[in-house]
Amino acid sequence: MEFTTMFCLFASILSLFIFHSLLKFLTSGQQKPPLPPGSLGWPYIGETFQLYSQNPNVFFASKVKKFGSIFKTRILGCPCVMISSPEAVKHVLVSRAHLFKPTFPASKERMLGKQAIFFHQGEYHTKLRKLVLRAFMPEAIKTIVSDIESIAITSLKSWDGQLINTFLEMKTYTFNVALLSIFGKDEVLYREELKRCYYILEKGYNSMPINLPGTLFHRSMKARKELAQILAKILSIRRQMKHDHNGLFGSLMGDKAGLTDEQIADNIIGVIFAARDTTASVITWIIKYLAENPSVLQAVTEEQEAIMKEKCGEEKVLTWADTKKMLLTSRVIQETLRVASILSFTFREAVEDVEFEGYLIPKGWKVLPLFRNIHHSPDNFSEPEKFDPSRFEVAPKPNTFLPFGNGTHSCPGNEMAKMEILVLLHHLTTKYRWSVMGPQNGIQYDPFALPQNGLPIRLSLKS
Ligand code: HEM
Repeated sequence: MEFTTMFCLFASILSLFIFHSLLKFLTSGQQKPPLPPGSLGWPYIGETFQLYSQNPNVFFASKVKKFGSIFKTRILGCPCVMISSPEAVKHVLVSRAHLFKPTFPASKERMLGKQAIFFHQGEYHTKLRKLVLRAFMPEAIKTIVSDIESIAITSLKSWDGQLINTFLEMKTYTFNVALLSIFGKDEVLYREELKRCYYILEKGYNSMPINLPGTLFHRSMKARKELAQILAKILSIRRQMKHDHNGLFGSLMGDKAGLTDEQIADNIIGVIFAARDTTASVITWIIKYLAENPSVLQAVTEEQEAIMKEKCGEEKVLTWADTKKMLLTSRVIQETLRVASILSFTFREAVEDVEFEGYLIPKGWKVLPLFRNIHHSPDNFSEPEKFDPSRFEVAPKPNTFLPFGNGTHSCPGNEMAKMEILVLLHHLTTKYRWSVMGPQNGIQYDPFALPQNGLPIRLSLKS
């Protein structure tokens, strides 16, 4: 081939290449929106130190002030987009939920069980959700109100005259209620063993995920294995009984559910985890707020005394209908859920590149709906730092009150949680008084927001 022909060929290939690259650059520039504002901080570390060295809520609030309701950051090596407008959160959790899957650190999945409801999307999740909702819908939990009442009465008696760590004691209450709602009224076989293993498991939940003998994580994983074995034993005994079982266990083990033993165990452990510390933390906050707001405590006590007076003889036990009359007390629960916002945020992950409010959320980035910021924004709640249950006499604006999340993964245990709190408050306020011991202005994260030191109180019977 002649030199001129070779040169022409080379020149045309080169210009084609340049044209193609230019076109790609121009069109990509046109198609891809920018990343949200904010800083990704240092490589890998990102802004992890800033987040953990201060109250996380202060970190979020300062970012929202600087960048607005959607901003980017990097935490523990993961690029994240944080969102705090009610509409944007609705998009992520409800309208475009299929684009944002739930995401947890691998160590947490291993500990709770990979087959647990929280970690899934699609068909398997829908099936589990139906089974879990069936066990916790009002029709199902109505039947255990009086049994929960017995647990509340016994627990309160055991604290009478004592200086107690409120959170720790409420964890015992909510654990016992969780076992009742899971296994039904039948004698809970292996109760003490379940308790022992679960308590070891939870100790390692926030530990470094190093599975070597001697580590907390290793001990937790061993306890988890034992828990699964105990649950398998209960399953085999219950299958031999050949009658219908109620509670979550009954719902999950039904033939129609078609779940394996492992799937059942993972979901039982997962539900105990979801139900226990959350509810215990909310009760702890309520006890603190009631102590700090004597007029609210007085009003709650009067409402509960009126319900108590209506009951006589056989009818003395509390019923579901009674809990529905506790309107003021329910508003105290709502206001506590708002002010304390025990779950400050949740996690999702973009399953593909998503264009969102004019920004790009790249595939694999985490997305964090900031519940606490929504609950504490003056746009949504006037004087947001004030504890004022009466604000719930009027329904909050849509998508501004999200203590139980929203959409496909919203909390299926919310009715159960409210009912067990109401039952405890009925007996607490009508029969006991309490005073908070020591200074109580701090918040700790365990990982749920909690009053400092678990709120030590002294509780005694009213004379
Ligand atoms: C006051 C106490 C409680 C609070 C504040 C609470 C809050 C939440 C929130 C915010 C979510 C959604 C998380 C997300 O979207 O990522 C959730 C999910 C969940 N909660 Fe609760 N919860 C409470 C009590 C309970 C109770 C008592 C149970 C069980 C009886 C329960 C079972 C669950 C389960 C199984 C899920 C996962 C649902 C799914 O992935 O489809 N929770 N909870």
